[in-house]
Amino acid sequence: MEKKLIEKFISLYGEGGEIKSYFSPGRVNLIGEHTDYNGGHVFPCALTLGTYGVARKREDKTLRFYSINFENDGMIETSIDDMKPLKDNGWTAYPKGVIWALKKYEYKIDTGMDVLIYGTIPDGSGLSSSASLEVLTGVMLKDMFDLNITMDKIALMCQYSENNYNGCNCGIMDQFAVAMGKKDCAVFLDTSDLKYEYSEVKLDDAKIVITNSKVKHSLVDSAYNDRRNECEKALKSIQKIAKIKTLGDLSESDFETYKYIIDDEVCRRRAKHAVYENQRTIKAVETLKNNDIIEFGKLMNASHVSLRDDFEVSCDEIDILVDTAWSVPGVIGSRITGGGFGGCTVSIVKNENVDEFIEKVGKEYKEKTGITAEFYIAEIGDGARVIG
Ligand code: GLA
Repeated sequence: MEKKLIEKFISLYGEGGEIKSYFSPGRVNLIGEHTDYNGGHVFPCALTLGTYGVARKREDKTLRFYSINFENDGMIETSIDDMKPLKDNGWTAYPKGVIWALKKYEYKIDTGMDVLIYGTIPDGSGLSSSASLEVLTGVMLKDMFDLNITMDKIALMCQYSENNYNGCNCGIMDQFAVAMGKKDCAVFLDTSDLKYEYSEVKLDDAKIVITNSKVKHSLVDSAYNDRRNECEKALKSIQKIAKIKTLGDLSESDFETYKYIIDDEVCRRRAKHAVYENQRTIKAVETLKNNDIIEFGKLMNASHVSLRDDFEVSCDEIDILVDTAWSVPGVIGSRITGGGFGGCTVSIVKNENVDEFIEKVGKEYKEKTGITAEFYIAEIGDGARVIG
């Protein structure tokens, strides 16, 4: 892969200079959805699917980008001094946003670059192709400009750029998982203070199967930001009677005590999800440590129900995938993963039932929606890095 990309890079930009290669993964979240902007916990892992980048520094201020995934866009040329927050569109808005954010925080990026990108994360799948591209850019800049910045800080800078350059008010989960992921582990992250620990994903006789509904969602749209606002409204109400910083500070029983103060029924349901999902995530990590996969699966299923009914970020296509998954033998748990409104489901399936799972879920989905779902057996890989 790397060799082919370097050849492509040279054919586009010519020989010479120091050419470097980078890789940044996608992510799948096992449990802890829509908790990251509520001061709760998340439990994602980095994938071996991801984004490759090949780059070389230039002596002038020109930035040139080319993506094998967006060949029709051709070569996009700009200057490192010409970044337009909230006005920039298209795929280069993600790398440009990260350059803008780092410059804003006074990291010294004083020359341009030639960049080639190739991604293996299906577009719109909800497996964080944008965070992957952002963190890839962060790692590239750290390496090429010798920036004194840690990987968790890169994750924060990438979130900052997504919030302020691209206009999506996302939490920290995706960028953090992509930057800090570790082979065969999920990252148990407390988003209230960014303390984290790695938890080995030992499934013995089962696999993580990701199912792509192929229904595209765009997070840079209003629904995600609406959910966030609804949670904030609920938090403000509870803060009138309880000393809390985030919804993540509440146990289930605290929530039941305080919920009466949230007038709006929709906001109350959103907050309920945030509180219960956070507690489910804490329990899920414990069950995994105790090798109790069955209980882990039950928590995943409960997470789906809550995201479907209380948080309302599922959709018909995803519910068909999850309902069918639940009916297949050997399925330990199945739920929507990521931001929602389409994208992927994540399921834990016994090895001996994986073929049957793919066949049955694929067939039922095709019959009911006319869409051919895609299946990936997740391999958990390392976070973003220099590869050559
Ligand atoms: C998207 C956002 C994350 C997180 C998830 C939902 O992936 O980028 O910050 O909020 O949705 O868990």
